[in-house]
Amino acid sequence: MSRSYPNTRLRRTRTHGWSRAMHRETVLTPADLIWPLFVTSGKGVEEPVASLPGVSRWSVDLIATRAKEAVDLGIPCLALFPNTPADRRSDHGEEALNPDNLMCRAIRAIRDACGNDIGVLTDVALDPYTSHGQDGLVDAAGYVVNDDTVAVLVDQALNQAAAGADIIAPSDMMDGRVRAIRMALEMGGHANVQIMAYAAKYASAFYGPFRDAVGSGGLLKGDKKTYQMNPANAEEALAEVALDIAEGADSVMVKPGLPYLDIVRRVKDRFDVPVFAYQVSGEYAMIEAAAAAGAGEREALVMETLMAFKRAGCSGVLTYHAALAARLLNA
Ligand code: PBG
Repeated sequence: MSRSYPNTRLRRTRTHGWSRAMHRETVLTPADLIWPLFVTSGKGVEEPVASLPGVSRWSVDLIATRAKEAVDLGIPCLALFPNTPADRRSDHGEEALNPDNLMCRAIRAIRDACGNDIGVLTDVALDPYTSHGQDGLVDAAGYVVNDDTVAVLVDQALNQAAAGADIIAPSDMMDGRVRAIRMALEMGGHANVQIMAYAAKYASAFYGPFRDAVGSGGLLKGDKKTYQMNPANAEEALAEVALDIAEGADSVMVKPGLPYLDIVRRVKDRFDVPVFAYQVSGEYAMIEAAAAAGAGEREALVMETLMAFKRAGCSGVLTYHAALAARLLNA
């Protein structure tokens, strides 16, 4: 007679696939994915990003092709980032306000190709446009000044909204920018444009490949610690989120992702807004490097990490693995 103990209860439910499916608590679908895409100049251009194997910058025409692919995969939203040509970068990042900049052209091309079948999220921050690679305007000492930057970010957001952006995503971490952008959108005839605030964005070592992709990495002197958050802080993240919600954010983001799932969970438990996380470039590169080194199976690593975001309380995840994950989920 085999001995059986009451505490075998949990293992018992795991014996067969049907039972594991029945007891599953969290579901991941393509609708949980936001796909970040890098835009570059030219036509028919694909430029692989060396530090992000499998990720490319695409010219505007090919961005539209990616958008159609995303619609077919069931991905609900794209996040756009431009690689501004060097001769269009400046101290004040004026190219961010150009109605024909790469971002605006990409937004219009996606709208032409897909109508309202997909959302377009646009990053508000000056780093892809400045000659110094900082997210805002700098003073003589190189310090990023808050209020003058907010004024420019408002104009940048209006420029993106006028081109057809659905979600404005300020990633700059200036104080007060969500309220300023919300008011400008209301007064500018863009009442239905959402704001997803990069509310808890940390001064992280995981952004390196992104800075290569948008071409700001080589330009950046110093770091972003005077405005992005200290990785040691969690209470402060809750304060940032509270402010951004009070100022009018429709949803908030935690960034980076995996090292900050504790922040996701605390935000989710405390506030009743949708929470998103950004699985950033360095996290993507880490997974790819692990897979290339034979330290793990790529697809399994990707799907496990994405499920972890959902389990932690995310409504969705920005991930460079979005197309791969959607393909696997649809298979
Ligand atoms: C720019 C911005 C960054 C990322 C998104 N928006 C980089 C930074 O703050 O330096 C990083 C995304 C990634 O690493 O994938 N404000």
